[in-house]
Amino acid sequence: LAERDGAAAPFFFSEMNDSTTIRRNPNMALAPGEDGYLVYDIKAQKLHRLNATASLIVELCGQDRRKDQLAADVGSLVGTDGAMACLSWLNRGLKEGILIDAAEARARTPTSALEFASFAQTLREEGYVLGAFVCQYHATLQLPSEADEWYALGELAHIVGRREDARHAYEQYISLEPGDAEIEQILIALRDGTPPSRAPDRCIQQLYARFSEFYEENMCRDLGYQAPQVLSAALNSELRCKKNLEMLELGCGTGLAAMHLRPAAGTLTGIDLSPEMIAHAQKKGLYDALEVAEITLWLEKAEPSGFDVIVACDTLIYFGDLSQVLLPAARVLREHGMIGFTVERDISRGFHLTDSGRYSHSSDHIRDAALTTGLVVKNISSAILRYEYGEEVVGLVVVLQKPAK
Ligand SMILES: C[S@@+](CC[C@H](N)C(=O)[O-])C[C@H]1O[C@@H](n2cnc3c(N)ncnc32)[C@H](O)[C@@H]1O
Repeated sequence: LAERDGAAAPFFFSEMNDSTTIRRNPNMALAPGEDGYLVYDIKAQKLHRLNATASLIVELCGQDRRKDQLAADVGSLVGTDGAMACLSWLNRGLKEGILIDAAEARARTPTSALEFASFAQTLREEGYVLGAFVCQYHATLQLPSEADEWYALGELAHIVGRREDARHAYEQYISLEPGDAEIEQILIALRDGTPPSRAPDRCIQQLYARFSEFYEENMCRDLGYQAPQVLSAALNSELRCKKNLEMLELGCGTGLAAMHLRPAAGTLTGIDLSPEMIAHAQKKGLYDALEVAEITLWLEKAEPSGFDVIVACDTLIYFGDLSQVLLPAARVLREHGMIGFTVERDISRGFHLTDSGRYSHSSDHIRDAALTTGLVVKNISSAILRYEYGEEVVGLVVVLQKPAK
């Protein structure tokens, strides 16, 4: 039935007169693929990719069909020997269980939309994301007023790289659940809209209020997060064993970087927009001061030349043009002071809002921003920051220095 099996299987003339009534198996999930349907068999845990003709057959089999009649009807559309080829596809569909005897189909309890959604979740957890997408797609079409189903579909469509499906799903979700700031931000990217200069405060606060409880477990255990380690290593090699430094951490989160920064710090101050993340950082007991604050506002109000080192580990991924942070940060740095940060690497020029709702930055942009803010580039190197859906997230590890006047 799949394209790779396009060659006609052996069949007998009598089959051309086979009046068996057949129907689509009600326990299979269906979603459109690139050239035809994707069908997920939840029993056999198998994904089928149908070609255009097989897809038409499967679509028509949403109701009872006589096998010979169907072969003749679809066959006439397929061209020479079409009926025979269709019969071959029908037989293959029956063998694979995608099509079944109509009486049997009626006797079966159809898999409910909620069961398909629950399969989707299990498959996603097990890493079978395309199968999960197909099951979630099938479920969501039957539950169009359920915001959570559209949300789950949006996420899965994003994971499997189906941008248009992700956009549509999130648009449906937001029409049912208006005001979700995280999805509003993602939709700007998916609609190729003009990005805001940084992720809105509402978006950050919503995201990290939800994420804070499982942030460390998810980042460190599941996603192999290494940004604090690679950034502190890059900073330490520039700091050359200096101690007792006044350090400021922008977007300190739960304080994952603190243990790497603390040995060289005389004082360590952390600021973050999320009270829930700060509450976790507080428990670590590694900061001298912690504040719930927005980075650019805090920097603008801070005393000039108060810090030797400023660190932003995986935080500037929420900012577009980095000058908006580097300019006020340079003001609060002492002469020869360093600012170290990580961002997600953009291989084109400039910076972009990505479909994740975060921003990626190129080394060109970092050099330009350093130049406009009067900072000297000490280090820009690539490193794996973590993994996302099994893929490496490559970042840039940056250290800039404020020169003496
Ligand atoms: C990916 S987390 C990184 C946390 C921590 N630095 C780490 O490495 O684990 C990003 C953090 O930046 C904070 N953040 C993002 N935008 C911010 C802003 N404009 N002002 C203050 N904090 C912000 C978030 O609240 C979040 O805690």
